[in-house]
Amino acid sequence: MRVHPSVPLIAALGLVACGKPAAQSDQAASSTNAPAPTEAATPAAPTDAQKKAMLATLPAAYQAADLDNGQAKFALCQSCHTVVQGGPAMTGPNLWGIFGRKAGSSPDFSYSDGMKAYGIVWDADHLEKWITNPRAVIAGTKMTYLGMENAKDRIDTIAYLKTVTTAPGN
Ligand code: HEC
Repeated sequence: MRVHPSVPLIAALGLVACGKPAAQSDQAASSTNAPAPTEAATPAAPTDAQKKAMLATLPAAYQAADLDNGQAKFALCQSCHTVVQGGPAMTGPNLWGIFGRKAGSSPDFSYSDGMKAYGIVWDADHLEKWITNPRAVIAGTKMTYLGMENAKDRIDTIAYLKTVTTAPGN
């Protein structure tokens, strides 16, 4: 089944799973117009270099962030928010593209009046302030999250958020 020409995707995945080197898979791919095996096997996950480039657009503190710690701290946020492109609203709105997005503008979500009127465009500083204490920013917010006390955790979390809500190259 390894290089059956009518099932290029399965062939590519099979080759990756078997850990075979490139020669055979390149032939199989070019003879069937299949995507390269690496594309088939790794959907949207940005590389470390792409993550670094994303963080380079943020203030200096975020560029030295600990993304593993950010991911761990973001777990709670993810109980209410999806981050993938086109992901559904849950208790909170989807956060894809949140950097540079106007507050309260996801069409799939019914925001509080305070969020609708907030009027800012989300950037690292606004996000940092927001997760420090949402109710101090918008008194009547629907986000029933009390806030993150540790400043380094906030930096790490927002840096991680940047890497999972941004298309590589942006
Ligand atoms: C208990 C559920 C819940 C948790 C936990 C939560 N949020 Fe939210 N979040 C919401 C809700 C609900 C809103 C909408 C707020 C409103 O309309 O006032 C929101 C709004 C937001 C917004 C504004 C989105 C927009 O479209 O303008 C951001 C950014 C955000 N949350 C980030 C986070 C981050 C980061 C965390 C973790 C530190 C987090 N949230 C934790 C429920 C949650």
